[in-house]
Amino acid sequence: GIMHELSGTSQLEQQLQKKYAVTKALVVPGDNDQSPWVKRELGKACVNCMKQRVKADNIIAVTGGTTMAAVAEMLPAEIGKKNLLFVPARGGLGLDVTNQANTVSAIMADKTNSNHRVFYVPDQVSSEIYDSFIKEPQIYEMLNLIKSANMVLHGIGEAISMAKRRNTTAEIMDKLIQGKAVGEAFGYYFNEDGDIVHKGQTIGLQLEDLNSANHVIAVAGGASKAKAIKAYLKQAPPSTILITDEGAAKVLVKG
Ligand code: BG6
Repeated sequence: GIMHELSGTSQLEQQLQKKYAVTKALVVPGDNDQSPWVKRELGKACVNCMKQRVKADNIIAVTGGTTMAAVAEMLPAEIGKKNLLFVPARGGLGLDVTNQANTVSAIMADKTNSNHRVFYVPDQVSSEIYDSFIKEPQIYEMLNLIKSANMVLHGIGEAISMAKRRNTTAEIMDKLIQGKAVGEAFGYYFNEDGDIVHKGQTIGLQLEDLNSANHVIAVAGGASKAKAIKAYLKQAPPSTILITDEGAAKVLVKG
């Protein structure tokens, strides 16, 4: 609309699209660090973006987090007419249940009268467990379903706060601090150059799997997440659509 054209947010969107390797950038007014309503605006923007892109019988993989939970809250029932299937992008045992990908995916399905599948496997396992786990037919089948997602919706987190939320061991915490990790997405921790400092052995979607999804929508706001977003965008697939807020965008377009 005309208001949007005249506002600073559309200028920020253009600057972000120029500066970063994203398909599209959307900026909502405000700063999520300052105002709680901004998360709902991020949610709304993501829903609009989904509406324009989702096709019949699509599989939609989602991560957890409070931002994704806000997206779930905003989903209108009508989108469910497309016979969608929601799946968690990763396993989620051991994490706070309200923020889990399983929970967010279930709420999305509930809001839209769609189907969903749960994936109750530990989020992070040892390599031996991982290797034997993925040979289990049920787990293998579920992993294939997740990897075949047409659309991926995910959050981006500040590295140290995400590591704390996940009850990370002192040893790995040290590795993150030494490696100057600033951003996190899908269990991968990145430094400012976008190098992977650490990657949890997670069962679910891996960074390279994002290349096979038609649409990857990253939603993260707040000036405090700017460094994290910047780091992640160095690794993100070029098909990424970034949905952020003015607070983060203003930092992202600078320097
Ligand atoms: C998690 C995702 O669930 O949400 C992470 O798996 C992401 O990759 C995080 O960093 C972001 O959380 P929030 O609450 O800040 O939206």
